[in-house]
Order: sequence, then C-alpha cells, then structure tokens
Amino acid sequence: MKYIFANWKSNKNVETANEWLDGFEKLTTKNEIILCPPFNILGGIYKRAEKLGFVLGVQDLSPYSAGSYTGEISSVNLEEMDVKYAILGHSERRIHLGEDDILVAKKVDQAVDAKITPVVCVDEGYIESQANAIDDDSLSKCIVAYEPLSAIGTGKEMDVEKVTQVVDRIKKAFGNVKVIYGGSVDETNVISYLRACDGVLVGGASLEVKSFINIIN
Ligand code: PGA
Repeated sequence: MKYIFANWKSNKNVETANEWLDGFEKLTTKNEIILCPPFNILGGIYKRAEKLGFVLGVQDLSPYSAGSYTGEISSVNLEEMDVKYAILGHSERRIHLGEDDILVAKKVDQAVDAKITPVVCVDEGYIESQANAIDDDSLSKCIVAYEPLSAIGTGKEMDVEKVTQVVDRIKKAFGNVKVIYGGSVDETNVISYLRACDGVLVGGASLEVKSFINIIN
C-alpha cells in the first residue's frame, strides 16, 4: 500500500473543488489517496470526498488544543470530519510563516493526541534537528515527507538514487517510519519515486483531475 497525498495548498474554493470531484468515480485503488484541501473547502466537501473513497488530510494544525487561539484550527475543530493525516512543517510554512522545528514538534504532539497521523516535511538541512525536536513517543507515529526545496513547484526532478539515500538518512534520524517523497511529482515520474519510498506528496499535479487520475493509476 502506497500513500498518495494531494496537497492543494491555497488553491480552489468549494465550487471548483466540487468540479474537481465531479471528475472522479468511486476510487478502487488499493493505495491510500489522501485529499488535503484548504480548511474551509474540507468543511464543504468532506462527506462527498469520503464517499468517493478519498481519505482526508489537512495542511497544518494548531500547536494548541481548543481554546483562545484566534485563527488557529485545532484537532477539536476537525472532529466530525474524520481527518486522518496532517501535513506539518511544510517548507512553505517554514519560509513564509517562520515555522521552526520546535513549533512543528508541538503540532506533531497535537496530531498524535488526536490520533491524526503527522506527515512531517523535511529538507536535508533539518532532518536530524527536526527528529531531535520531536518526543520519542510521537516520533514513531510520524510519516516523514522528504521535500527537497529545489524540487518543490519547480518542475526540477530529484534524482531517484538521491531520494533513496535521503530515505535512509531519514530512517536513521526518525527510526523505522514510513517515508514519502514530494517535489514536482507528476504522472511521468511517479512510478520511479514510488519504487524508492512509501508514497508521494503531490502539489501542482494534484490540481487538475486528469493528471491526478493518471498519478493514481
Ligand atoms: P509540487 O509541490 O508537487 O507542486 O512540487 C509539492 C509540495 O510542495 O508538497
């Protein structure tokens, strides 16, 4: 079983998300296809997405539980939606919103407490420091996404041998966790990445129905 994540980032609205879902029949794959839309869209489409066989994920999670944290989305806010995964510490959040290893570790703990699997994103610069920041108990519950900065949104493919090497390094730091790859994954290169690791995190190529169906197939 492989993990295929669709990370929509800040794209689409409820209407265009429903148009995207119109393009799918009920999924029949043995792989886990995880749809990670923006929070508001998740609220608008989760029932329909689940009926089609998608598993639900979010792109972030509050480092705090429910309470006075204006603008944050805690696991309590997600309860009725059966969210199974949370992408945490994506490089875009580290770069544009100042997230660091410590903050990401707090989010990991919140996810684990809520029985949501944390998908911790790392580039080579912070594999060990991110692992060290996370509690031992939480560490084994993570999926780790190797997301090289040079390959995200650039169309520049990362060499598969290099991915294999970094997967080994991640397992040394995090333990025997599942590792997925993200960065310009598309229908032409997905097979080779799936041979090197446990799944893929797809950004741009998940926005169009046709390219995402080709990736799933
Ligand atoms: P990309 O994004 O597929 O558009 O490169 C991947 C990611 O940022 O997770």
